[in-house]
Amino acid sequence: MDQVKIFSPASVANVSCGFDVLGFCLDSIGDIMVVHKTATPGVVIGSVTGEDVPIDPNKNVASIAVKALLEEHKTDFGFRIDIDKKIKPGSGIGSSASSAAGAVFAVNELLGRPYSRRELVRFALAGEAMASGAAHADNLAPVLLGGFTLVRSNASLDIVKLPCPSELVATIIHPKIELKTIHSRAILKKEISLKSAVEQWGNLGAFVSSLYTSDYELLSRSMKDKVIEPLRAMLIPKFDEMKEAALQTGALGSGISGSGPSVFALSKGAATANKVGEAMKKIYDSIGLDHDIHISPINETGIKIL
Ligand code: HSE
Repeated sequence: MDQVKIFSPASVANVSCGFDVLGFCLDSIGDIMVVHKTATPGVVIGSVTGEDVPIDPNKNVASIAVKALLEEHKTDFGFRIDIDKKIKPGSGIGSSASSAAGAVFAVNELLGRPYSRRELVRFALAGEAMASGAAHADNLAPVLLGGFTLVRSNASLDIVKLPCPSELVATIIHPKIELKTIHSRAILKKEISLKSAVEQWGNLGAFVSSLYTSDYELLSRSMKDKVIEPLRAMLIPKFDEMKEAALQTGALGSGISGSGPSVFALSKGAATANKVGEAMKKIYDSIGLDHDIHISPINETGIKIL
């Protein structure tokens, strides 16, 4: 095999209750990447279409991740990556994770799969760390493993794949403003109170339990964020109204997708998820703010070969 074409999906990190550790994979939006073997060792970005990302292999998260892999797995040939970038950088749905994970996944295929999807997370993290200024795998893990994932430790990359209740559907609204993760992390406090920590680990534990038992009511009660959302909400136009509209329309929960500015909701069934999307859309239409909406089931397999 000399080339492979893949779909590398978007993802939602944090999911309100699990800052930097919880995430799920989307199905309706992702990048298309084609990776070719080349005679010259190393990695180059052949072309970028769609959204604007660097073509310089030292600045593109896809090539940086591949370089990390090739440092460990030496080859006497190289790779060219062509990227059709559909996920807008700085939109809060794992744009850099999609590039980094997709690139190492495709190269691993061309190498005859020396690494498992789980092992690929650590190479992809090299790209993600450059993009966000911090090494956290909460977007990468669901993109590579699919479904919901919990990163028990970002340091040792101890990752747990979680079950996914079959009726969950995500709604995402992206106000077309760019919010870099590095900036939305800079406003966070370095310490939190014991009271907030107790509430938060209660919510995260219950959320994980709800996935195992498909307990949608418990899932709904657990989608709370007392730590991060209050600080970041001010960065997102109409955030409080957006969340309230989603919940009033029947969403199980709603919050900031990753580091924002996208806002996500989880609903039981596509009909509710669509209605939630309409309610959210009305709010941005009312202030003339351009936006994208995505309605997506949870992608349980992650990156796909096309
Ligand atoms: N957990 C990360 C954050 C996700 O919220 O900053 C975005 O990379």
